[in-house]
Amino acid sequence: MPLRGSARPRTGALAVPLGASRLGASYLRASFLCASFLCAPLLCAADPGAAPSSAVLALADTATAAGQADPPAVADAPACHAQAGWDLACLRARYAGPAAGWPAPTIDAGVHWIEWAAVPPASSPPLQWTAANAGQTQLAADVARPAVVTLGQMLFFDTRLSRKGQVSCASCHQPQRAFTDGLPLAVGEDKLMGRRRSTPLYAAPFAPRLFWDGRAASLKEQVIGPLHDPREMNHDAVGAVTRLRENDMYPARFLEAFGGAPAASSSTVASASSAAASTVSATAATTPVAQAPAASTPTSAVDADRLARALAAYVASLRPEKTRFDDFLSGRADALDDTELLGLHLFRTQARCMNCHNGPLLSDHQFHNIGLSFYGRRNQDLGRYEATRDPADLGKFRTPSLRNVAQAGPWMHNGLFPDLRGLLRMYNAGMGREAPPADPPDPYAPRKSEHIKPLDLSPAEIDALLAFLKTL
Ligand code: HEC
Ligand code: HEC
Repeated sequence: MPLRGSARPRTGALAVPLGASRLGASYLRASFLCASFLCAPLLCAADPGAAPSSAVLALADTATAAGQADPPAVADAPACHAQAGWDLACLRARYAGPAAGWPAPTIDAGVHWIEWAAVPPASSPPLQWTAANAGQTQLAADVARPAVVTLGQMLFFDTRLSRKGQVSCASCHQPQRAFTDGLPLAVGEDKLMGRRRSTPLYAAPFAPRLFWDGRAASLKEQVIGPLHDPREMNHDAVGAVTRLRENDMYPARFLEAFGGAPAASSSTVASASSAAASTVSATAATTPVAQAPAASTPTSAVDADRLARALAAYVASLRPEKTRFDDFLSGRADALDDTELLGLHLFRTQARCMNCHNGPLLSDHQFHNIGLSFYGRRNQDLGRYEATRDPADLGKFRTPSLRNVAQAGPWMHNGLFPDLRGLLRMYNAGMGREAPPADPPDPYAPRKSEHIKPLDLSPAEIDALLAFLKTL
């Protein structure tokens, strides 16, 4: 059977159309004229490079041409790509076995990358992957105890932790949305809006540093943060602990999870409470425990340290939903269809995504500036720099996990993209422009990562990437 695309011009089937990067560039200019992310929905809805619906058909045709006499690939042509487009049967063969035998991904010099693999289950002790986190030994022990994890889960969904009882952790971290909330920016108690999007939580058990800017070094340190944040739960550890102690159910649950009171002496209670609070609030740490109503029950099993431990253990127990991507990784080659398989191949090669989205979570857990800092504009966010004040960190954000990514939108630290195709088109265009050179040079101008470059993907190839992202 003749290859349908072979009689067509090169811009047919799935060959790279020369206009792809031009379209991307104009899209880019348009979107960066907007100072506000609110403009993004409009721009992303405009679809300059929409793929023809025949793309998938073309793919299928290509696949049936397996092993036919395509002209030999030129020296630097990508694997399984001939003049007429992608040879899907060839790709299938290359990805049939274990990952060790797959085509080499396109990785820039000096990048340390890790092959994709199944996400380690919560039950595989010890939590080696949190080795960089302070207190990981205690965390590993807590995750292994169902009573602690269950308690953490109850707390996670309990609005009593917020001052006015309006929000729980789960208001912003909803299980069915990869533990984010569907909003561009998080909205906390009294509808106060934060400046970043609620992070999906699947990377949290594995990341050496937490938050988009890495300002927290451990889950236990992190989970108390939202309690205090006036734009989140607007409370404090002492207030939350007092409320839990007065509750009918919690003292018994804490007792079951952690045993009796840590110590009868009030000084221990005070130091446990302040240890958990000190990372975020100096005031909580200095509140004398005698002033808290809870001091009347110094032997309570409920304290701030245990509250933080239970929440941290629950978050550390979260794992992404299993998907067809997992089936594929476990050796079921037919788990992905042709379009998705091509998307996988592009992700690893021409699209350069593996430079950062590698390892079991599809994240290197590192910080990169991909050009979304909005430097000098109203929505400026300098990311990691705001935590370190190191100019090398200007505009860098932590690479998010892409597990279950299709459920996690709108995407990026500021929810800039309501649509994954728009996001992919921006990557294709090499993301935002650098700030124009200033005279004298501006030492604070963020510099985009050298790993972000225009990709020259055709609309059909962007569709394939999109199809692949939806399998993750
Ligand atoms: C008002 C919405 C809101 C509430 C309520 C909230 N969070 Fe978050 N959460 C966020 C936002 C926004 C971020 C990202 C902030 C940043 O990076 O600056 C975040 C980040 C996190 C992270 C970091 C994940 C990572 O991989 O870096 C964890 C863990 C987390 N939250 C757990 C919790 C827990 C536990 C609670 C309840 C005690 C909670 N959150 C309550 C909005 C919220
Ligand atoms: C230089 C490292 C790097 C490369 C290369 C890279 N990414 Fe990213 N990616 C990031 C970082 C960092 C973020 C978060 C940026 C932000 O929020 O400002 C991100 C965010 C994303 C998100 C949003 C996830 C979410 O939950 O918000 C998606 C989807 C994504 N990348 C897909 C891709 C794809 C597809 C490619 C290849 C075309 C790619 N990335 C290449 C570093 C990278």
